[in-house]
Formats: sequence, C-alpha cells, structure tokens
Amino acid sequence: MSQMELIEEKMEERVDRILSCFSGRREELIVILQRIQDEFGYLPEFALIRVAKFLGVPEAHVYGVASFYAQFRFKPMGKNVITVCRGTACHVRGSPMVIEEVKNRLGIEEGDTTPDLRWTLETVACIGMCALAPCVIVNGKVHGKVTPRRIAEIIKAVEGVEKK
Ligand code: FES
Repeated sequence: MSQMELIEEKMEERVDRILSCFSGRREELIVILQRIQDEFGYLPEFALIRVAKFLGVPEAHVYGVASFYAQFRFKPMGKNVITVCRGTACHVRGSPMVIEEVKNRLGIEEGDTTPDLRWTLETVACIGMCALAPCVIVNGKVHGKVTPRRIAEIIKAVEGVEKK
C-alpha cells in the first residue's frame, strides 16, 4: 500500500470513528459536520460523501447544508492564517493594498491556502477596532494601522521564527 493510500485510509478511519458516536438521524448533520471540521480543520470531500451515506441523504443535501453556514470550510487551513479586515473604515484606509501585498507575496487569492499549507488568506467584515484601521489578524493577534510594508514584515517575521 502506498504512503498516500495509507494516509487516506487513516483519514477514513478518523471519519468513521466520529460517525460511530452518532445514530444516523438527519438532525445530526450539522453536529457531525462540526465534529469533522474540528478533526481536520475543514470538510474533506470524501468525508461529506461518507456522511451522506451514513445519514441516507443525497450528497447534494450535505453540500447544500455545509455551504449555507459560513463556519464550514471546504479547503484545508494553512498553519498560519492572515485575516484582513474589509470593513468600511479599513477599506478607506488602505486594506485593499494590504490584501494585494499578501496575495502577491504568497501567490494566493482570498480564501486560499498556499500549496505547502503554510499560509491562508481570509478577509472579514469589521472586527470592531475601526480606530486602528486598517486591521489585520495574524494567527489570532490583531495588528492595527497596517501598511503593505508592515504586513510584509509580519509575514517575514513569522517565516523567520518557523525556520529557527
Ligand atoms: S472596519 Fe476594520 S475594524 Fe472596523
């Protein structure tokens, strides 16, 4: 068995372990999806197919419910997450330029993760710190009055720490 097949089998076992805690009622769908996302950090496609079989509902129903809620992700998260505020105050004070800098530097679009799974770029509506606009959250820490230059420094600093 190849390394990849082994990893996939392990992932399937993890999903089955989660499903074994449920009885297979349709009302359990959202809680099951939450448990799977807690386990993997996102909802892998094979897991959604397995959930549909387990609950005896069409795959389209599972996808429909999962896409309705903003909390669910369909792609893996990077080890580091940059969340740029797109609220009005941040927008007028330059958040689009900060987003551009992150996109160019990391080679990804909003909502994407780098292929090496090191960085994810997200945007969000007002985070309630408009006086510090434009705001960026990097790995849970809020940075205020962020310029393109500053976000480049923050990214470099995180990468520097990881290399050590
Ligand atoms: S608009 Fe960005 S913090 Fe309010």
